[in-house]
Amino acid sequence: MTILVTGGAGFIGSNFVLDWLAESDETLVNLDKLTYAGNLANLAELEGDPRHVFVRGDLGDRDLLDQILATHQPRAVINFAAESHVDRSIHGPEDFIQTNIIGTFRLLESVRHWWAALPAERHRAFRLLHVSTDEVYGSLAPNDGPFTETNPYEPNSPYSASKAAGDHLVRAWYHTYGLPVLTTHCSNNYGPYHFPEKLIPLVIVNALAGKPLPIYGDGQQIRDWLYVKDHCSAIRRVLAAGQLGEVYNVGGWNEKPNIDIVHTVCTLLDELHPRSDSKSYKDQITYVTDRPGHDRRYAIDARKLERDLGWRPAETFETGIRKTVQWYLDHPDWVSNVQSGAYREWVDQNYKQRSV
Ligand code: NAD
Ligand code: DAU
Repeated sequence: MTILVTGGAGFIGSNFVLDWLAESDETLVNLDKLTYAGNLANLAELEGDPRHVFVRGDLGDRDLLDQILATHQPRAVINFAAESHVDRSIHGPEDFIQTNIIGTFRLLESVRHWWAALPAERHRAFRLLHVSTDEVYGSLAPNDGPFTETNPYEPNSPYSASKAAGDHLVRAWYHTYGLPVLTTHCSNNYGPYHFPEKLIPLVIVNALAGKPLPIYGDGQQIRDWLYVKDHCSAIRRVLAAGQLGEVYNVGGWNEKPNIDIVHTVCTLLDELHPRSDSKSYKDQITYVTDRPGHDRRYAIDARKLERDLGWRPAETFETGIRKTVQWYLDHPDWVSNVQSGAYREWVDQNYKQRSV
């Protein structure tokens, strides 16, 4: 038995691959383009492991997809591959359209043609799980209930619009062609191997480097945080038991304003790795110009996943964030390796133009 994972060298994908192979001996084929966000160092412990087959390639390459499916005959495909950073989508939306829309389309078409010719038993058992985001639902007002699976789509950034378009294609391929799909919408993840362009890892690495901790706008925007390994366990659960064509929200009921997140990280660093001058890392907090179109609040109602499939997160925010900060302190080589020239160029591009 084999599964195919796309984007398995990125943050969530690599956590998923590591957890999958820690729990099962089923071969996993990992298709990843290795963009700036893909990093084989995340998977270093799998070197030489015959259960992990890595293929460098683009989700949009139909011939390659056809070849992988024909060669490896997976029983399931899990689509993580995406351009994922909202700020980058504002600076340059083109890659988001190519991967999140065209790439998803090519994957659906390749899988559809291959799946149609499978023998009856394998045709019936096959699943395609598409990993989406809560951002497609738009932004909540302070007193709104959390997003449910029936919330209308109201994406506000090029990133979320491209993810929304990909989700619509997945839905249409189920209704029109009967492709056996499942879709998940998760809230903000955090944990090991998170690329330091995103808030939590950026704050940890900037704090340790003595740099400013940039807070967009007033810092009162709310995100709903989930430890990455809980997202991975939810995906495994949906793949194993989800109803075909259904959508599942994934979240851990951890709504927090950004400024509280940054304070929590600083407090943990003060305890685990105090500054040499004994002052708090909070002194490095700097308010900067806001993100255009910045969504004010996300919150996920994950009751369907709990009620129908019995999934619950294992970590609280307090346990997960402590593990995360400790992981970054324990992996200085990983941190310095990802801060390449390209990373520094991005930091310059994104932060130089923001006034303090
Ligand atoms: P990431 O940016 O860390 O990783 C994306 C991976 O996809 C990288 O390894 C990259 O090389 C690969 N990739 C990009 N374009 C590709 C292409 N054209 N062909 C093949 N591979 C390609 O992203 P992430 O944070 O791990 O997110 C994974 C998925 O989960 C995405 O679909 C994202 O929308 C979704 N998601 C993320 C979060 C979050 O908080 N990070 C929350 C909910 C949903
Ligand atoms: O909600 C799920 C989404 O979460 C995923 O679909 C995306 O792929 C993922 O990147 C994430 O999107 P966000 O935009 O919420 O994540 P980010 O870490 O970029 O920002 C989190 C919040 O922190 C957001 O309100 C913007 C703010 N922020 C971010 C950065 C990088 C800052 O205040 N300062 C910063 O320097």
